[in-house]
Amino acid sequence: MTSQDDLFHPVIELPESTRRARYDRLVGLDDIKLRLRKEAALLADPRRLQAWAATHHGGDVAALTLFADRAPLFIFAGDVGSGKSALAESFGCDLSDYLNLPVYLYRLKLATRGSGLVGEMTSLIGDAFTHIHDAGQRATGPHGVRSVHILVVDEADALVQSREAQQMHHEDRAGVDAFLAGIDSLAGTRVPVIVVLCTNRVGALDPALMRRAAATFTFTRPNGQQRHAVLTQALEGLGIGTATVSKIAELTGATTDRPGYTFSDLTQRLVPAAVFRAFPDRPVSDEDLLSLAEALQPTPVFTEER
Ligand SMILES: Nc1ncnc2c1ncn2[C@@H]1O[C@H](COP(=O)(O)OP(=O)(O)OP(=O)(O)O)[C@@H](O)[C@H]1O
Ligand SMILES: [Mg+2]
Repeated sequence: MTSQDDLFHPVIELPESTRRARYDRLVGLDDIKLRLRKEAALLADPRRLQAWAATHHGGDVAALTLFADRAPLFIFAGDVGSGKSALAESFGCDLSDYLNLPVYLYRLKLATRGSGLVGEMTSLIGDAFTHIHDAGQRATGPHGVRSVHILVVDEADALVQSREAQQMHHEDRAGVDAFLAGIDSLAGTRVPVIVVLCTNRVGALDPALMRRAAATFTFTRPNGQQRHAVLTQALEGLGIGTATVSKIAELTGATTDRPGYTFSDLTQRLVPAAVFRAFPDRPVSDEDLLSLAEALQPTPVFTEER
């Protein structure tokens, strides 16, 4: 069996300050964050649902059985630079606070993909699920759940593509099947394990996978209000006028010949570019930002054909 170090990036115990700050800085995801907290809490510790039913409905309710066999899978799908990875790797901080338990973050290494050996992908994924299942089992005892284990499968585009997709290689198809088997092996076992899969390819997601997901969250480009909120946060302390911030939020929106900026276009391109213009001799000016917002092209919309 593949060793833990070969399967995952170093495992991180949450909460942790950098990731908590990242979670807090994510704008416009409040609905997703709230739903994710509740879904994850119930998947990790189903006894909470029983306790809720006992308190508020005086005992067992039929709806509880509907939750029993759910697969602990969340799909984060959508546009580039929209917070999928950032949320996947940080929501464990919130979950940890909410459940008052440590949360362990496992990030699958997909780097060995495509080395050509049939069966390699299959065993890699199979071993990853075995590892995480064992970790979850060790975290469950007679007194309940002691920790929660989150497995993030990021950039899973090829892995999760529909098995019917035309040009799919045999090896990739085997990957989808292994992933489905792994998810099924976790469903209904009541081990505190949650799997999050991030992908740009909403349209090409395998239907069998989508059907299993406890929830699919779709991430989009920011609207004007969200661009304003992200900019306000990112420009804090630079002394940029409020009218200018509003103007940039407007300039970075969609026009007839291009889409609007992504979240990451704002945080990782526009604002850093303004800083580099000014550094090291002068402060950032309103003009730096305005002219850059006119000049920088937003990331093209991800298309399935690419
Ligand atoms: N909702 C958001 N609020 C604030 N900042 C955001 C948001 N979404 C993304 N960002 C910024 O963009 C950066 C990149 O986001 P992230 O890596 O999570 O994107 P992604 O959705 O995983 O994109 P990709 O599909 O390219 O992997 C974040 O580190 C953050 O600075
Ligand atoms: Mg990502």
